[in-house]
Amino acid sequence: MNTSRRDRWAALESPEAVEAAATRLRQMGDTASEARARECWLDLLAAGAGERILDVGAGLGDMTVVIARQVGSDGVVHALDLSAGLLHRARDLVRESGVSDRVATEVGDARRLPYGDGRFDAVFCRWLLLHVSDPARVVAEMRRVVRPGGRVLLVEADWETLAVYPGDPATTREIVQANVDRQVDGRIGRRLVPLLRSAGLQDVTVTPLVGLDLAGEWLPFLRSRVDVAAEAGLPDHDLARWWEAVVSAADRGDYMMSFTQYGASGTVPDGPEAVHFGRRVTEPR
Ligand SMILES: C[S@@+](CC[C@H](N)C(=O)[O-])C[C@H]1O[C@@H](n2cnc3c(N)ncnc32)[C@H](O)[C@@H]1O
Repeated sequence: MNTSRRDRWAALESPEAVEAAATRLRQMGDTASEARARECWLDLLAAGAGERILDVGAGLGDMTVVIARQVGSDGVVHALDLSAGLLHRARDLVRESGVSDRVATEVGDARRLPYGDGRFDAVFCRWLLLHVSDPARVVAEMRRVVRPGGRVLLVEADWETLAVYPGDPATTREIVQANVDRQVDGRIGRRLVPLLRSAGLQDVTVTPLVGLDLAGEWLPFLRSRVDVAAEAGLPDHDLARWWEAVVSAADRGDYMMSFTQYGASGTVPDGPEAVHFGRRVTEPR
């Protein structure tokens, strides 16, 4: 298959690219399963009133806004993104949601966060790490800007878990593979625990969450994956047959799609640290 693992989310600046990215995010975000997922991530983040939170790669600001409600009017949420165009939309959402008093937006790079050490009580990051070539560096930066005792929460899908019924199984496999290979790391979900541990975070936990669609809400997303598979060189007639099978099953109520995403969190040690054999270890206090 002809796939290229380049970061399609880096430097989204033209109005067309921003519009296309916003459409993709809406296809996923405006679904019942994502509404449930947002609640789950909010519970895991457990932002308290008055806390300072950083949303890294905030995109359209959907999570920024719900986190801002959680921290209340005494709290602060910083939304950072590489794309000025997406952040512009995030600012509109923040204003419409009535939380401008506690949200700051900044154009910046997750690989070099423009904040001092220990500035935040927690960092939240959803759907960014699959797009960067050096996720360890990004997680190290997140850890740096969180105070001792503060939290880092990463949320990523593992796109190899995508299951669809019906459709020819061989074609389904090829579509899933094309979607995985399209990302810099489409399987990043399974790497979150080692990434957090290598960055020296403690009390690392991971929560898997299955997104399930029986109603056809994810069909626009699936259609875009068929297009990705076509770009990767899958035969048009196989893809057309597969798509027809899926759409007619959805019309009859016989369709199912699911995938797993993971929320992984860890705590920044608040004791003195030592480095033993290349791994950070917190000394007992
Ligand atoms: C798939 S979107 C996810 C947006 C948002 N976190 C969400 O969950 O809806 C990926 C986002 O990461 C941003 N991004 C990509 N590379 C970045 C980097 N190196 N630093 C900061 N943001 C980056 C993109 O501009 C985009 O907004």
